[in-house]
Amino acid sequence: MRHLLSLADLSSQEIWKIIDLAVELKGEWKRGGNEPILRGKTLGMLFQKPSLRTRVSFEMAMIHLGGQALYLSPNEVQLGQRESVADVARVLSRYVDGIMARVFAHAHLEELAAFSRVPVINGLSDYSHPCQALADLLTILEKKGRLSGLRLAYVGDGNNVATSLLFGGTKVGMEVALATPPGYEITEEVENLATAFAAESGGRVILTYDPQEAVAGADVIYTDTWTSMGQEAEMSRRLEVFPPYQVNEALVAASGNPDVIVMHCLPAHRGQEITDEVADGPHSVLFDQAENRLHAQKAVLALLLGGR
Ligand code: CP
Ligand code: NVA
Repeated sequence: MRHLLSLADLSSQEIWKIIDLAVELKGEWKRGGNEPILRGKTLGMLFQKPSLRTRVSFEMAMIHLGGQALYLSPNEVQLGQRESVADVARVLSRYVDGIMARVFAHAHLEELAAFSRVPVINGLSDYSHPCQALADLLTILEKKGRLSGLRLAYVGDGNNVATSLLFGGTKVGMEVALATPPGYEITEEVENLATAFAAESGGRVILTYDPQEAVAGADVIYTDTWTSMGQEAEMSRRLEVFPPYQVNEALVAASGNPDVIVMHCLPAHRGQEITDEVADGPHSVLFDQAENRLHAQKAVLALLLGGR
């Protein structure tokens, strides 16, 4: 494993290796601190979009492991505008030991990886958000004690987060039910990949337009913003289409599972895709989930930057 661009590129064993190491590093950190296994290592963090969790959790992960991170704002590098993506990769990878990038076009990540001498990590693209899904799998494992055989219902936009959850979930044998409005489905390519992963792992992919159907019997209910970064021009249209897909108390009850957990990658648009009652309610694990970005990414960094 040289880069982390999509969970579709990882085997289920590799995903488990990351999760197991995340559990270990989290335990170590909770007991007082991590060993400085990335001492002297640096991570360049390229952002084309805003961030709270990704920026801070990657930076703190590097610090906790004895390394350093460098934040490069959208205005500074101007990926593909001030200079070509390939040249950014060629230059930046002479200075740092790893690159984490948050981009609009996934093709730019692939280009960075193609021209970089050091590992490239996807910190969110229009296609996928693998670091989020790894933290989510860690969270589900902690809350439920297992992954295989669980039913995860994702309700909302068939976006980057849905794509990574579908890949990650089906790789580890979960049943992933997606309820999106018509016109906002995941792509056929993603569906085909996930269906193949599920066939191999004993998992399952269920695609529906009906949120009640998706959540029935769910162990996990997951949602994300209706309008992702870069789609702002579509917001008013989306606000008309998506309200039936809101995760509210009635939808949580429709799971029929008193122990169902509710997840959201954040930032949340309270009153839109999720209500306050649910986000702050007894089923919510939103902030444990956000914390786990730190632990899951420590594992990714340790494996890719050579600490493990
Ligand atoms: N979930 C997530 O990636 O959050 P940020 O956009 O704040 O990094
Ligand atoms: N789907 C959202 C996730 C934000 C973390 C977006 O791309 O904006």
